[in-house]
Amino acid sequence: MPGIVVIGAQWGDEGKGKATDQIGERVDYCVRYSGGNNAGHTVVVNGEKFVLHLLPSGILNPGCTCVIGNGVVIDLEVLAAELDELDKRGVHVAHPLISANANIIAPYHRTLDKVSERFAGKRRIGTTGRGIGPAYSDKVNRIGLRMQDLLDPEGLRDKVEASLGQKNQILTKIYNRHPIDAAQITEELLGYADRFAPYIVDTGRLLNDALDEGKVVLFEGAQAHHLDVDHGTYPYVTSSNPTAGGACTGSGVGPTRIDRVIGISKAYITRVGEGPFPTELFDEAGERLRQDGGEYGATTGRPRRCGWFDALVVEQSAKINGCTDIFLTKLDVLTGWEKIPVCVAYDVDGTRFDHWPTTMNDLSRATPIFEYVDGWSEDISSARTFDELPATCQAYVHYLEDHVGCRISGIGVGPGREQTIIVNELI
Ligand code: GDP
Ligand code: IMO
Ligand code: MG
Repeated sequence: MPGIVVIGAQWGDEGKGKATDQIGERVDYCVRYSGGNNAGHTVVVNGEKFVLHLLPSGILNPGCTCVIGNGVVIDLEVLAAELDELDKRGVHVAHPLISANANIIAPYHRTLDKVSERFAGKRRIGTTGRGIGPAYSDKVNRIGLRMQDLLDPEGLRDKVEASLGQKNQILTKIYNRHPIDAAQITEELLGYADRFAPYIVDTGRLLNDALDEGKVVLFEGAQAHHLDVDHGTYPYVTSSNPTAGGACTGSGVGPTRIDRVIGISKAYITRVGEGPFPTELFDEAGERLRQDGGEYGATTGRPRRCGWFDALVVEQSAKINGCTDIFLTKLDVLTGWEKIPVCVAYDVDGTRFDHWPTTMNDLSRATPIFEYVDGWSEDISSARTFDELPATCQAYVHYLEDHVGCRISGIGVGPGREQTIIVNELI
């Protein structure tokens, strides 16, 4: 079972980091294939918490080689800080291997992200402000900087000048900001060249060779299906393809190498930033979920918007990504509710939708149609087998399974690596 993709099945923060780390014990390679340090993946090992932004979550498993694929955008300062922080905490990890083709987030991308959001006012996306959109824009516009450019100082200088020539016009004339000095930016980026040069390889070849040898390769998605620039709630999305197809383009392996796609989903839903969210709660029930689930952003610290499980959201993700399994996280957070609402359809101006609407116009007007499932009051955080869960809790899991059309193979009952129930082996 060599090629496994993990994706977020909702709007992010489903617990991809924990699931990846948990599976990671049996994985040879762990690969990030999209996004950048807009991601915040939390892993808790022996009670110690780590939040990873650019490093794949397999990094804490000795024996797992970590790869940052071509589809990722890399902020060199953040990557260096993340590696240094692990080192400071006494966690000595092997360095990641980085695609020569991965694009770099330059300081001016961060600046542009922030000023354009401010300029957008009420039309803002609610980005993480990490420069993600501007870096991917440059990539697609063919004026991006790539990791391999660090190996060619003169070429890098020329590319930074070309890119800033245009951006400085925008910064000074539209946003009323000071121009950015190309020489200074080039020096700043080249300051990381010696450190990262040995990490830069042809990761596409490396991963295909590994798969040829029967090694287990896990592709760790960041963000989520509904934040995908093609499939998500556009324009309230990120600027990359976190969906399963993105694992192929973002790492350089063909679709024939993928054997399994695991969708990670919370037992309820959260969202950070702007955009439609039909089951969002604005009352004390939402606040209770936020408190019980500790729903504050791992990257920006923003309070997450909370709502009840939406079967249309996850069913759509399972279908478009070809999910073979769902890993249901944070089931423990739902303990103590007498009845748990589950959204099984939408009402849009009197018309019932049993599946994800085709247009954003319909989605933005959708109100949820709920069914109410019996809850449970027992603490489930120390359950390690499905049989140990209370009967109503088991019934909730089966109910979700039926409504999303995909089997639930893993269940999270707490943040710790060991707080997991494996229903069907994931490798
Ligand atoms: P990611 O971005 O998908 O990796 O998710 P985040 O790390 O941003 O957010 C998930 C949060 O839920 C983290 O604080 C995790 O430690 C926590 N978490 C993950 N799985 C579980 C679970 O099954 N139960 C509980 N209570 N917390 C969990
Ligand atoms: P992980 O991997 C939750 C959201 C932002 C914003 C939108 C665009 O931890 O699940 P961007 O900075 O990417 O241009 O912001 O996407 N967003 C996330 N929300 N989890 C994430 O990552 C996210 N990465 C981006 O809040 O709404
Ligand atoms: Mg997160």
